[in-house]
Amino acid sequence: AGGWGGPGINLDFRPVAPNVLDAVVVPPGHEQEVLIRWGDPVLPGAPEFDFANQTAAAQAMQFGFNNDFCGLVPMPGHRDRWLMVSNHEYSSEGFMFHGWDSANPTREQFEIGIAAHGLSVVVLDRDRRGRLEVRIDRHFNRRITMTTPFTVRGPAAGSRYLRTSADPAGRTVLGTMNNCAGGVTPWGTILSGEENVNQYFANADSVTDPQARTRLARYGFPAAATGRKWERFDRRFDLAQEPNEANRFGWIVEIDPLKPHENPVKHTALGRFKHEGANVIVAKDGRVVAYLGDDERFEYLYKFVSDGRYKRGDGQLAREHNKRLLDSGTLYVARFRGDSPAAEIDGSGRLPSDGEFDGSGEWIPLAHNDRSFVEGFTAEEVYVFTRQAADAVGATKMDRPEDVQPSPRTGRMYAPLTNNTDRGNPGKEGPTEVNPRVRNRHGHVLELEEARRDNTATRFSWQLLLVCGDPNSPDTYFGGYDKSQVSPISCPDNLAFDSRGNLWVSTDGNALGSNDGLFAVPVEGRERGHVKQFLTVPIGAETCGPVITDDFVLVSVQHPGEVDGASADNPVSHWPDGGATQPRPSVVAVYRTRR
Ligand code: FEO
Ligand code: CA
Ligand code: CA
Ligand code: CA
Repeated sequence: AGGWGGPGINLDFRPVAPNVLDAVVVPPGHEQEVLIRWGDPVLPGAPEFDFANQTAAAQAMQFGFNNDFCGLVPMPGHRDRWLMVSNHEYSSEGFMFHGWDSANPTREQFEIGIAAHGLSVVVLDRDRRGRLEVRIDRHFNRRITMTTPFTVRGPAAGSRYLRTSADPAGRTVLGTMNNCAGGVTPWGTILSGEENVNQYFANADSVTDPQARTRLARYGFPAAATGRKWERFDRRFDLAQEPNEANRFGWIVEIDPLKPHENPVKHTALGRFKHEGANVIVAKDGRVVAYLGDDERFEYLYKFVSDGRYKRGDGQLAREHNKRLLDSGTLYVARFRGDSPAAEIDGSGRLPSDGEFDGSGEWIPLAHNDRSFVEGFTAEEVYVFTRQAADAVGATKMDRPEDVQPSPRTGRMYAPLTNNTDRGNPGKEGPTEVNPRVRNRHGHVLELEEARRDNTATRFSWQLLLVCGDPNSPDTYFGGYDKSQVSPISCPDNLAFDSRGNLWVSTDGNALGSNDGLFAVPVEGRERGHVKQFLTVPIGAETCGPVITDDFVLVSVQHPGEVDGASADNPVSHWPDGGATQPRPSVVAVYRTRR
């Protein structure tokens, strides 16, 4: 990059101290700026943001609410231009409207909510000083909302469980929702996880088929009205009228930002659950492997191994071939074993006598295309009701598997387990070596190495890299590093790797009482486990979507000011605009200014 001359980001920064400021705080010698905020124009002609007079038509052309994942796809032929893709996980009407009456939403508010969901694609340019700027590009900029058509692909496309009165073929779904984390594929597309989709569909108890009701309950669909009340405005959100509409959400979706007119895809081969995201690595033999987490307490870790092999190069033929790789393959779920005596796993979080929470495990196959490996389930049932299939094979219940990520350098997989305050509670599963703490408030980070370092293997070894929390507490572990030298960290959520193979961890819900943030930690050598805090986000915000390059860091600042009792009528955050303004979820860039 002209004049910038990275690598500008490395690990010699002075750690940011925990704080409760209404600001993004970065280390000395770094600067941060907001690139795009909720309501900023995405499409040409979008009106300027006007909080008090927002309309659905404006929102559909503007950056959506609560951006979570952020991914960069390089623009072919350019060194300093990318397509930046952001997920808009959910709308929070109490922070979007003055005088919000949750019992009586208006149709306009419903339609604004519909348009505030989905994704945004914008062109991002870097100038000669190395600074990034969002462009309003006529060709590439795009908004995907709850009304954008998606093509259903893979083994459950057209399944009887996906057919509705609006789509009797079960192959075209309008919209994507609750898009949480995601990943950039090796072929330059974006994968995004549809996560907490249950909150949008009402009246599960009014569904007549008892088996369908059981399936809906396993995914947490509400028995009666939803909090959002979208069912009042569109019958597809009323399960009593459209019992299959709910089955059309909870998938991994793929968006090709270089093809702005192409329908995005819902990939049924990757199963249906509360998908946090998907990250793909090319295995030694060229097949691609996607690692997947189901983010709820006591849910599972999955992986998908493709049948086809990755083709190198970014030519059209290779790209179109690679964009079909997630259509067919094998879906697996993980089962873990610890190697220490059960009596030593007492729930306290203290290390067992062998000095590690570690062990082995296996990937249990669930289905391969039209073939089911689970007794009592057809293949399409495995794909659409994946949680029940995983229950049936005795998969290991985890402490909220979030943004699972393979290291591009070593192929090892890292999984943040955010927390699980229910573990060990009456009637709930107790501690196991891989989830060793009862009432786990601070979470942990798992490291998994596949047999023969082959990502398609069905056996693996594992250990916990971090057991998070206050380093002064005996129930924490920082990869064996001197705990007096590390930053406190709580509730790991999103992961990313830098070009040197260091792991970066962002947090959601810091249970130590200070704001969330972004942390860096080497995973190899003498510095393994040396956690350093790189930034903190404003009060009430979650840190998401970290993108770590040699020249800059991007983070999504999601739900600033979202604390108990706060609302648009009583804001506790005024970030990023200051004064008496409303908080706005945003993407922030961090640059190094001194070295
Ligand atoms: Fe949307 Fe699992 O966080
Ligand atoms: Ca998340
Ligand atoms: Ca052990
Ligand atoms: Ca989260």
